[in-house]
Amino acid sequence: MAVASSLALLATACGSGDDGSSSGGGSSAGALEGRGPITLAGGKDTSGNLQNQLNAWNAQHPNEKVELKELPEDADAQRQQMVQNAQNKSDAFSVLNMDVVWTSEFAANQWITQIPEDKVPDLGKLIPATVDTAKYRDKLYGVPITSDGGLLYYRKDLLTKAGIAEAPKTWDEMLADCQKVAALPEAKGMSCYAGQFEKYEGLTVNFSEAVNSAGGVIVDKDGKPNVNTPEALAGLQELTNGFKTGAIPKAAITYKEEESRRAFQEGKLLFLRNWPYVYAKAEATDGSSKVAGKFAVAPLPGKTGPGVSSLGGHDYAISAFAKNKATAIDFINFMASEARQKANIEKTSQAPTWASLYDDPTLTKQFPYLAPLKASILAAQPRPKVVKYGDVTAAIQQAAYDALSGKTQPQQALSDLQTKLQSLITQ
Ligand code: GLC
Repeated sequence: MAVASSLALLATACGSGDDGSSSGGGSSAGALEGRGPITLAGGKDTSGNLQNQLNAWNAQHPNEKVELKELPEDADAQRQQMVQNAQNKSDAFSVLNMDVVWTSEFAANQWITQIPEDKVPDLGKLIPATVDTAKYRDKLYGVPITSDGGLLYYRKDLLTKAGIAEAPKTWDEMLADCQKVAALPEAKGMSCYAGQFEKYEGLTVNFSEAVNSAGGVIVDKDGKPNVNTPEALAGLQELTNGFKTGAIPKAAITYKEEESRRAFQEGKLLFLRNWPYVYAKAEATDGSSKVAGKFAVAPLPGKTGPGVSSLGGHDYAISAFAKNKATAIDFINFMASEARQKANIEKTSQAPTWASLYDDPTLTKQFPYLAPLKASILAAQPRPKVVKYGDVTAAIQQAAYDALSGKTQPQQALSDLQTKLQSLITQ
């Protein structure tokens, strides 16, 4: 008994080590050694361009090739596979394409390797908020490869036809615009708005944006839960009322990013909240999008002016259990380089993490969404930065889903969520 508990104590002491230099998967800072083949594990590549990027690396590094291990499309399912892999101390995944919200959990558990900042020469060129997502207790555990900010896609053609000159800035203006457009014959069978409301990470994003845009918070500046407020309630009610009135179609309770993108591309929605990757797909002129040339992009709508996006994006981290970490860090720097990020935005409209690309005159001319995207990312709110993120997001998803599906009254859902978050976030 005594031995067991002192071992447990020792494990806790190691686990909480700030420098990440304790046991675990050999995650000591600076030990980025070994060269040879590596793998990249990440969610299904809906952009269609990732393999091109990897081919560019592989062509230059025949003895250090990277192989893609494609995981499911939904963020929670990706996280689950990565966690499982880490718990098995498997070396099957070398580089992890991590959602920005997972850093604290993976770093605290020593599933990923601390990266000395001097091993990432371009770090200072990246948008600071994106670099923050890759830090845990002021130490770096990943390199931001793509950022993400929520955007309001809207049918400019139909707004213009209804005599509306500008995109709505508030939720109420958006609903009023929908009423005007509904009078047009072209609007038959269309719904006003959708986001992502299936019970998964995207719902945490959409709920957070509704709350933040209405002036509320989920956790306050000191990291304390404070979601049982009139502001948060107003935000949640925009969504619950949307479902009640039909402004949001019933089917949207099953939407993740791709389902909602397809609904917009098929001409079923006047307004869509989604990430920048949708721009390139919806603009495609190969017949896959019915709305190419007909839509534009604006900041998310808020209560009295533009709303607040949730900060999304992906960081590449090195598994603590990986072989060939020297190759892994070189590969990560290659993918983070300005040249690779530029090549990627040109093909996919995914948000770069290089600050300079948002002001590049050729890009801003070619991609009109870059200005609202930059504004969205710079004003975006991070989701709670906590070690128990998996539990926290599950609690948020449950509360939001129950309210949207009419199972729980919004007020009750927020009060239950507050209690749950208080028990999960104790720092
Ligand atoms: C996007 C974002 C990510 C977010 C996810 C939710 O992939 O980049 O941060 O968690 O969508 O579905």
